[in-house]
Amino acid sequence: MPMPNHDAPKPDRDLATTTSAGSAASAASAADRTASLVAADRATVLQAYARPPIVFERGEGAWLFDVAGRCYLDFTAGIAVNALGHADPELAAAIADQATRLIHTSNLYHTTPYIRLAQRLVRRSFADRVHFANSGAEAIEAALKFARKHARTVRGESEASPAWTALGQPDEATGVWSRAWRLVAFEGAFHGRTIGALSATHKPAYRASFAPLVPGVAFAPFNDVEAAAAAITDETLAVLVEPIQGEGGYVPATLAFMHALRARCDAVGALLILDEIQCGLGRTGHLFAYEMYGVKPDMVCLAKPLAGGLPIGAVLMTEAVAAAIAVGDHGSTFAGGPLVCRAAEVVLDRVSDPAFLAAVRARGMRLVEGLLALGSPHVVDVRGAGLMIGVELDLPVKGVIDAAREAGVLLIGAGERVLRLCPPLIVSDEQVDEAVAVIGQAIDAAAGVW
Ligand SMILES: Cc1ncc(COP(=O)(O)O)c(C=O)c1O
Repeated sequence: MPMPNHDAPKPDRDLATTTSAGSAASAASAADRTASLVAADRATVLQAYARPPIVFERGEGAWLFDVAGRCYLDFTAGIAVNALGHADPELAAAIADQATRLIHTSNLYHTTPYIRLAQRLVRRSFADRVHFANSGAEAIEAALKFARKHARTVRGESEASPAWTALGQPDEATGVWSRAWRLVAFEGAFHGRTIGALSATHKPAYRASFAPLVPGVAFAPFNDVEAAAAAITDETLAVLVEPIQGEGGYVPATLAFMHALRARCDAVGALLILDEIQCGLGRTGHLFAYEMYGVKPDMVCLAKPLAGGLPIGAVLMTEAVAAAIAVGDHGSTFAGGPLVCRAAEVVLDRVSDPAFLAAVRARGMRLVEGLLALGSPHVVDVRGAGLMIGVELDLPVKGVIDAAREAGVLLIGAGERVLRLCPPLIVSDEQVDEAVAVIGQAIDAAAGVW
C-alpha cells in the first residue's frame, strides 16, 4: 500500500521562467492568459465567490500549478478535501479504471463499489449502516430528515399528535416549538448552505438574506456545558455538533462538553449527530474525531475528503436510527455512484492505515511547534488536532493570506482573525517547514501595513 510521500521533491518555484526560456514575452502571454480567463469568469459565471486572479490547471502532491506556470504550496487542500494531495497515482488509476467500467446507474440498481465502501465504513466505525449523499450539506439534510423520522417512529409521535399538528409553528400558549421540530445546534457552527443545513448554521451573514429558514433550531454557546444542558430538553429531537468547529475558527470541543452532550441526549431521548464533514477521515490524525473523545454518536456526517476530491457525502448511523427509515423515505439520483465510491475506497483504505494516521499526527505536531517557535507577538492562539490547525491572530487574516499567496503558499481563513491550516494529509516535513516560514513572514508583512 502506498504510504504518504513526505519526501516529494520541491518543484521549481517559477516554471514560467524555467520551461518557457525565461522570456519576458512568454511571461506577458502567461499573464494575458490568466487575465482573459478571469475576465471570462466575470462575464459568464454567477459571481458568488471571491477568488484571487489565479487559474489552476494541474496539481501534484501538495503543489498546485497555475496557467501562468507558477506553483503554490497548497495549505488549503480544497478546504480540507484533497487528503491524498493532487493527482495521487493510485486514486487517479482507480478513477480511470472505473470510468472504463461503469460510471452511473442511479439507485435503481445495486453496483459493487458502494457496497464495498459501505462495508469498509461500517467495519471501521461505530456505525451499523451508511447512507450516501453527494456533498456535506446533503449529508446534513439527510441526517436531519432521519432524526425527524426517528422521533416520529421511535418516540411514538404520529401525525395526529399535538406535536405534529403544530408542525412549523410554536405552541400558541407557550411559544415553544413542538418537540418533533426541536434541534439544538451551536454558536459558531457551520453545517452547509442548503436551507435545512443553513438553518443549523449560526453565522448571521450566511442566514440573513434567506429567511424564513427551517424553524425550531435553538443555538447554545459552544463548549458551555451548563448552557447546553439547559438547551437540550425533552422537546429536543437531536443535537448537531462539529467535534472541531471548522468555519467557526478551528475550535475543538472540550472532552467535558462532548461527554455532557452524550449524557444529556441519553437523558432526554435525543439523537447525537456529529458533523465530521471537515474534521473526520484522518484530518485529526484519528480516522474519526469522535474517537478522540470516546463518545459514541448516533449519526456521523462525512463528506469532503471521502472521495479525494470527487463529490460525495455519507451518513453513518446506528441500527436504531436506520430502523426508522423505510424504502422511499429519502433518495438521490447520483448518490453512491460507482465512480465516486471506487475513489472513496482508495481514500478510506489509505487514511485508515495506522501508519498514515501516525504520520498525520507527527506532521501536525511539527506544524504547531513551528508556529509557536515563530514567537510572533501577533499569534494569539494555536489550536486544533492533527493537520487541522487554527492560528488566531490579533490582526485580520486577509492581509496574511494575500502576502502568503504572493510568496507561493495558499492559506484560507475562518472568520476575521483565524488562519485555518488544512494541508493535504500527505504533506512532507519540508513542506510544513516552508509553510511555517512563509506564514511568519506573511504575518510580519501584514502587521507592517495594518
Ligand atoms: C463542518 C462542515 N459541515 C458541512 C459543510 C458543508 O459541506 P458542503 O460544502 O460539501 O456542502 C462544511 C463545508 O465546509 C463543513 O465544513
